[in-house]
Formats: sequence, C-alpha cells, structure tokens
Amino acid sequence: MEEKNRNVTLTYNEGQDAIDLPVLDGTLGPNVVDIRSFAKTGMFTFDPGFLATASCESKITFIDGDLGQLYYRGYPIEELAEGADYLETCYLLIYGELPTSEQKKEFVYIVSHHTMVHEQLAAFFKGFRRDSHPMAMMVGVTGALSAFYQDSMDYTKENDRSVAAYRLISKMPTIAAMCYRYTNGLPFMYPRNDLSYSANFMHMMFATPCETYEPNPVLERALDRIMILHADHEQNASTSTVRLAGSSGANPFACVAAGIACLWGPAHGGANEAVLKMLDEIGDVSNVAAFMEGVKAKTHKLMGFGHRVYKNMDPRASIMRRTCYEVLDELGLQDDPQFKLAMALEKIALEDPYFIERKLYPNVDFYSGIVLSALGIPVSMFTAIFAMARTVGWVSHWNEMISDPHQKIGRPRQLYTGAQRRAFMPIDQRK
Ligand code: SDX
Repeated sequence: MEEKNRNVTLTYNEGQDAIDLPVLDGTLGPNVVDIRSFAKTGMFTFDPGFLATASCESKITFIDGDLGQLYYRGYPIEELAEGADYLETCYLLIYGELPTSEQKKEFVYIVSHHTMVHEQLAAFFKGFRRDSHPMAMMVGVTGALSAFYQDSMDYTKENDRSVAAYRLISKMPTIAAMCYRYTNGLPFMYPRNDLSYSANFMHMMFATPCETYEPNPVLERALDRIMILHADHEQNASTSTVRLAGSSGANPFACVAAGIACLWGPAHGGANEAVLKMLDEIGDVSNVAAFMEGVKAKTHKLMGFGHRVYKNMDPRASIMRRTCYEVLDELGLQDDPQFKLAMALEKIALEDPYFIERKLYPNVDFYSGIVLSALGIPVSMFTAIFAMARTVGWVSHWNEMISDPHQKIGRPRQLYTGAQRRAFMPIDQRK
C-alpha cells in the first residue's frame, strides 16, 4: 500500500480532541482510512458484517461492484474464462503470474501426482450415514487431512506451505467425488493422471470399474470454466473465515475445513443449491408472479440474486449464462424447463423496480446450478463443487496472510450492551 501523507482528521469529545488517521491508496478501488491507532481515542469502530471495513491488504483479487469487474492478479475474469484453464488459474492465484508452458507442465505434473488420498481416509466415510450431506462429509474429511500430514506442517517455512497448497488443490476433487460415490453406494474411483483436472473429477464421479469412461470435451470445458469462475472472490465470508482461522497459526487443512463450513450457508456458497430448490418450488412460469409477491413481502428471497459487492451484473453470471447455452445445446436440452423458468425469472426481476432500486442482479449462483444439473451433478453436490473450486482461493489468501511478516491473530472487539456489574445470588435466594 502507498502512504501519500494524506490524513482524515476525526474530532471527538465535543470537538475537544482530534485524531489524524492516514489515508492509504491501493492500486485499484477505494482508498482506506488506517484506523489502527483509533483505539487510543478510547473508542472502537463499529461495523457488523464489515460493510465498510477492509480486513487486510491483498494482491490476489480485485472486484469493482459498481462496474461489475473481477480481476485475478490483474487479469479480467472474462479473459481467463476464455483463454486459460483451471490449473493455469490456480498457478496464477498462488504465484501471482501466469505460468510459462514449462512452469505449467511442472505444476500439472505435481498436482496430478498428489490427487490420491491416504487409503485410511476412505475409512472415514464408513462412519457417515449414506444420506449425509456432501458438505458435512467434506468438512469432516478435509479437517481430517490434518491427521495425515504431520511431516509438512511448519507453515513458517515456504516449502511446507507450498506442499500443503498442492495437497489441498489436488485432493479436493478426490474427496468431493468420494462424497458422491459413498452417498450412492458406488465404489470409489482412483484418480487418473492422464486426464485433465476437470476430466479426472468427472471420471472419479461418473466412471465405473466395469467399463472405460471418456468425458465429453464440451462438458469437461464447461466444468473447467465453472471452476475458474469460482476460484476466488476477494474477502468473501469463507475466505475471511480461512484467514481468521489461519491467523492463529492453525494448519491449512483445518483452516480450509472452516472455510468449507462457512461456504455451506445458503447466503453464500449454498445459494446454487438453493436456486434449484427455488426453481423446483416455483415449478412453472405461471407461478412466478405469486412467488415474486412473496419476495417483495420478504417472506423469501430470490436466491441467486443480489450480492454484497456487485451492484451491477456479476461478471461471472454473464459467463455462466453463456455456458448454460453451450451445455444445454450440446446435450439437446434447449427446452430444459428449469433453464426456461430461470430465464423468465431473470427477465422479470431485471425489469421490476423492486429489484432495480435495490440493485439486485443475478450472481454467479443463479446459473451455475442449472449447468451443474445438466452435467449430471446432483443438487446436493453443488456446494461441494464450489468448495473444490474455491480451495485455491482459500489457499492463496492463507499463504498471503501467513507470509506477511506483520500479520497478527485476528481478534475483533465489540459494543457491549449487556448487564451492568451485579452481585452473585445463591440459588435459594433467586425468585
Ligand atoms: C456468493 O461475498 C462474495 O463474494 C460471495 C460470492 C463468492 O464468490 O464468494 O460471490 C458467492 O455467496 C454469492 C451470493 C449468493 N447468495 C445468494 O444468492 C442468496 C440470496 N442473496 C442474498 O441473501 C443477499 O443478496 C446477499 C447475502 C448475497 C447479500 O446481502 P447483503 O449485501 O447483506 O444485502 P442485504 O441483505 O442488506 O439486502 C439489501 C436489500 C434488502 O432489502 P431492504 O431491507 O433494503 O428492503 O436487498 C434485499 C434485502 O431484503 N435483498 C433481496 C435479496 N438480496 C438482498 N431481496 C430478495 N432477494 C434477494 N436475493
């Protein structure tokens, strides 16, 4: 960050006292007021939900919510979704630069040779009910990775951080596919190193030991693009969870498990699953008007719409919408009823003053569920796919934070509005 010796002066105590707070400039986006010295006023700042708070400095991802812009390490998401693949994007997010062909070859080799999990990890699944939600299993099994990699858990060392990053990025698809297979009583499929990252995931999900499986290249590319779109998104709730957990020195497997738990919520990564449930609940275009009345009466939300940062179209939603058309065309599902219903909902919402006034536009989750459905992925697995894709973002932010020499444990304060001091009362005196 650049300090240009510009301050904002805050007066308090009826103007008797004042404090100068430096303004810091970023490369792009809003400047920040550095309030680290604010506590000497004897007060705290108050910002539940962090609507106006920058929790850290970062060089990884930039979002402009008004312009609908999303850059990974400065590259627009539209250009990456078009020209890169997911592992190239992982390399970019972790190391800050797009890989040369040599660097990419080595990165792909390392990632594909870390995709197997310890054979004993498979035993964890036997403890889950067959109808467990995949995210419940993802949280548990990812956290359990901490029990298998004691050999590389000194994260003050760059090498240990790098090995942990490879392991998490490589093994998440294997674990996600194991969740799906276990739920359906299917044998686990071992990864195949000859397949791309996304094709390997499709293999582990849909192949059977009884015959060879060749993924459809159009569907493989669509899944890879979905992974790119979900790879990172600045300081969203789950990434902030990973940063806060990591700030105590917790190992990255436990931190990513915490991120998965946060992502599960329907206001965050669980929204793609909630969108499909909403479409099923609406059922037919003829029910849309009544459903929208309920949204305006605040009895329910229009899932897949709205965003804390985007007050314009989420650029990922536009790319996802195009991917929808590609996949449905490839599968001959142009008349997919859910897609048609989603298009009707989107059209109505984009023309309705209620949504326009509140700047509620489709977000990435509005279309992703329809594409995932068309790829044959069950609704219950949608957020697990989101977690698989977002792992590289979580790992990149964890690594950026841990390697910052000035990082401290995250420990916010509060506005206390509870009871004043009072004396203990023995139970026989309580009424
Ligand atoms: C993701 O942070 C990220 O970057 C997240 C993410 C990522 O990549 O990590 O982009 C992924 O989580 C996308 C968001 C997925 N969630 C949903 O689609 C769930 C539905 N959306 C909402 O829950 C909501 O829009 C949030 C949680 C996404 C954002 O909520 P905010 O910023 O706290 O806004 P708010 O709740 O204060 O809403 C402002 C107004 C309110 O109305 P009023 O009180 O002003 O009358 O808009 C209304 C809200 O009621 N509103 C909605 C709505 N979202 C907000 N009304 C109907 N339907 C909605 N979806």
